[in-house]
Amino acid sequence: MTALIRWLAVLALACLAPAAAAADPAALYGQHCAACHGADRLGAMGPALLPESLERLRAGELDAVLRDGRAATQMPPFADTLAAAELQALARWLRTAPAAAPQWDAQAIRASHIVHHLPGSLPARPVFSADPQNLFVVVEAGSHHMTVLDGDRLAPIHRFATRFALHGGPKFSRDGRYVYMASRDGWVSKYDLWNLAYVAEIRVGVNTRNVAVSDDGRWVLAGNTLPRTLVLLHADDLSLARVIDVAGRSGERSRVSAVYDAAPRHSFIAALKDIPEVWEIPYADAAGAPLPPSALLAPRAIVLDEVLDDFFFDQPYRHILGASRQGGGQVIDLQQGRKVASLALGGMPHLGSGITWQRDGREVMASPDLGQGRITVIDMQDWHTVATVPTNGPGFFLRSHERTPYAWADAMMSPRRDTLQVIDKQSLRVVGSVTPSPGRTAAHVEFTRDGRYALVSLMERDGAIVVYDAATLQEVRRLPMDKPIGKYNVFNKTTRSAGTSH
Ligand code: HEC
Repeated sequence: MTALIRWLAVLALACLAPAAAAADPAALYGQHCAACHGADRLGAMGPALLPESLERLRAGELDAVLRDGRAATQMPPFADTLAAAELQALARWLRTAPAAAPQWDAQAIRASHIVHHLPGSLPARPVFSADPQNLFVVVEAGSHHMTVLDGDRLAPIHRFATRFALHGGPKFSRDGRYVYMASRDGWVSKYDLWNLAYVAEIRVGVNTRNVAVSDDGRWVLAGNTLPRTLVLLHADDLSLARVIDVAGRSGERSRVSAVYDAAPRHSFIAALKDIPEVWEIPYADAAGAPLPPSALLAPRAIVLDEVLDDFFFDQPYRHILGASRQGGGQVIDLQQGRKVASLALGGMPHLGSGITWQRDGREVMASPDLGQGRITVIDMQDWHTVATVPTNGPGFFLRSHERTPYAWADAMMSPRRDTLQVIDKQSLRVVGSVTPSPGRTAAHVEFTRDGRYALVSLMERDGAIVVYDAATLQEVRRLPMDKPIGKYNVFNKTTRSAGTSH
């Protein structure tokens, strides 16, 4: 009996000991992590470690990073330093918001500003011979790099390090010279593609969705999740113009889901995640004459019935075609500031997932349906569903180009994630498919400037950009890349091709 009690006592102690040691993850963090990730968890040499920052990291991945570190980076393994229970407690704690909400005000933004090259100090001509309009930038998320590709030779020109975890598509100035990028942790960077050099950087927040650049080249707008702000920057040197608090009519704060440049309207559009409003921020009048900065600080709120989760615009940026959280789609007329039609759309998987084109003399839009293995095609004159095209499985993007008869759809969220299907834009039939590497995720198509070649991503760490002849569907080249999650062609983006998002 006493032996049993003794045994039970030992067992109880064994259970208690790690729990006791792991009781104070904040202290463990202060001792082992704060030097690199910041005492406030907002990041320093290493990335920010707030629940929002770690959203995309699955539980198993988080445990593995703490245990094994990250090879070839400064993140050390802690398996030998900390007990398993301590690591578990730390992982749980990192998923918990700090007691005081993180602040990042105008003063913090200004203090982070870095100017590498003063506006006008670099030569206004490319340092390479490639067509500057047919460049691609490829976001390599594996080791946080960007590759500049020559779209004519289909070969890299340059590769450079970016901030940790770029978020949202990079955006080009209208002449294609500059590319603006936002990182998950709030850094906005301006890069000169002609000189292959960073121009300026600034940290606008702690967790950022994306940036938009005004068509007149004067402004950059960043949309944040943390804090709940929009941040307006001068595009020339990224200096701070203004912080705009994002709050609804009764003062409730909202995260920003994305910001866009509605070039034909001379305005920015901000989609809000927590309140049923879309904001329009004009930067020029109807004739295109620049508005004074003070005018940019009065967003026009378009009040909706439901929060819009994902949406895109028609080509004139007159309408927003959106999917609401409750399911179903709606059309919002930006001019009238109200809903004008419902859409028979299950839901969109992603902002900018769809495209538009001309069919039988009418403009149609098409997008993958959230969670469904099908593409919905909608007539944009009267908003009726023209067709639903069954595919291999739920996917993320549909992509095309004015000069190709086909639209390419992935099935990234299905067992057939290794295969892209090619749909004829007139017959609305699947006419072919490509499987770059059996078993490996293939997605995100972007075309060369002339529409001749389609560039597909193999998404893994040892991935690649696989180039296809867009007419014959034959592979013509394979360029090794480190998790190439996106690629963006200067011409197609700056001319706002109907076959891609902008
Ligand atoms: C010597 C500096 C250093 C120390 C100490 C350090 N880290 Fe890191 N950590 C980094 C760097 C740098 C990265 C980014 C690695 C990469 O490029 O993927 C990172 C990445 C991470 C990530 C992955 C973040 C993401 O979004 O992918 C987590 C989680 C993390 N660290 C947690 C911790 C914890 C918890 C501790 C303390 C127990 C710690 N780190 C200590 C430098 C450090």
